[in-house]
Amino acid sequence: MIITPKVRGFICLTAHPKGCEQNVVNQINYVKSKGPIEGPKRVLVLGASTGFGLASRITSAFGANAATIGVFFEKPAAEGKPGSPGWYNTAAFEKEAQKAGLYAKSINGDAFSDEIKRTTLDLIKADLGQIDLVIYSLASPRRVHPKTGVIHNSVLKPIGQPFSNKTVDFHTGNVSEVTITPASDEDIANTVAVMGGEDWEMWIDALKAENLLAPGATTVAYSYIGPSLTEAVYRKGTIGRAKDHLEATAFTISDKLKDLNGKAYVSVNKALVTQASSAIPVIPLYISLLYKVMKAKGLHEGTIEQIQRLFQERLYTGGEVAVDEKGRIRVDDWEMRDDVQAEVAALWEKASTESLPEIGDLQGYRTDFFNLFGFEVPGVNYDEDVNELVEVPGLV
Ligand code: NAI
Ligand code: NA
Repeated sequence: MIITPKVRGFICLTAHPKGCEQNVVNQINYVKSKGPIEGPKRVLVLGASTGFGLASRITSAFGANAATIGVFFEKPAAEGKPGSPGWYNTAAFEKEAQKAGLYAKSINGDAFSDEIKRTTLDLIKADLGQIDLVIYSLASPRRVHPKTGVIHNSVLKPIGQPFSNKTVDFHTGNVSEVTITPASDEDIANTVAVMGGEDWEMWIDALKAENLLAPGATTVAYSYIGPSLTEAVYRKGTIGRAKDHLEATAFTISDKLKDLNGKAYVSVNKALVTQASSAIPVIPLYISLLYKVMKAKGLHEGTIEQIQRLFQERLYTGGEVAVDEKGRIRVDDWEMRDDVQAEVAALWEKASTESLPEIGDLQGYRTDFFNLFGFEVPGVNYDEDVNELVEVPGLV
């Protein structure tokens, strides 16, 4: 079939298999161009199909030659109905991994559930024995709690008082004022239940209980901080409470890994266009200004550049892992540079529907958004009839 984008707000209902494949190949080539990493040999990636998780899987496999198991929640392709981007990304990743002689298996299902944890543990036991690195990169709007059965829905709201600021509809370029009503206590608790560290700890507990973590095992989860501009809706909002919890959980997990000489880290990453971040009000305007400034300074990175740098220059340098005063790894260092933030703050004041095309990188935002779904990828012929029924070779 001929597949075209069907956009509904900040989501696209279709995905292009060839475009997703090209994105994955480009990421693999980038990692290879940066040379080998003396890193982990057996890696479990939770949230492995898109965004930072996919980049982590690619860096592990094609940078460190690691065997990878990826867990994700994606829609398989069906006759006349394209699968989700993460489905096609994984199909492409596995095809390339097979070609390179790398072990790669994937599990599609709810990582929050006991059932998917069981399937994953059994697969590790059967195929890899133990794991050296666990990447925790889930981003989800909801979680069914495995013990209580309660459904938690996360929200993106300020805490305490309403928050008003500028936002942009990145499709139309229309800049407007948005007011977000504050969260209730229940909203906060629900967001922490979905995006906080409880499930990360459950995974590590389950792996450790069955002796599936290798000596020196490392686990990393991803967080975000950002500038004061977005603080009310991000770091001091409901999602920020969840990130506080996630960051605190790193210490709890590190204590539990002491006997293995293992360690849990949180890496604070840069703001990027992903399916998760497009849904947050105010953030798309911030990202379009940030992209403009960082590209002009030659500092721009995508998910693969971020994660390749995390592995090569933070986690696997052969020496100590550099962390901030709160024990966090920082690869948002370039985003948070004083000169970058001062320029973004000045542009923010000027941002309007009229000025944005010139002062912001709205085009870069849009392109990245379409790229997430395999559209507007250079070198792909979108007039060509493609087979939407793509299989994931190593699907368990
Ligand atoms: P994403 O939406 O690209 O990836 C989410 C992944 O989680 C996908 O592989 C998806 O299939 C999987 N997933 C979602 N629900 C699942 C479930 N129930 N069971 C199994 N898999 C499930 O998101 P992104 O942006 O890569 O986010 C990953 C982490 O990075 C999050 O913790 C996010 O807060 C963090 N982060 C994101 C930043 C950004 O600007 N996008 C910046 C800094 C941190
Ligand atoms: Na991810």
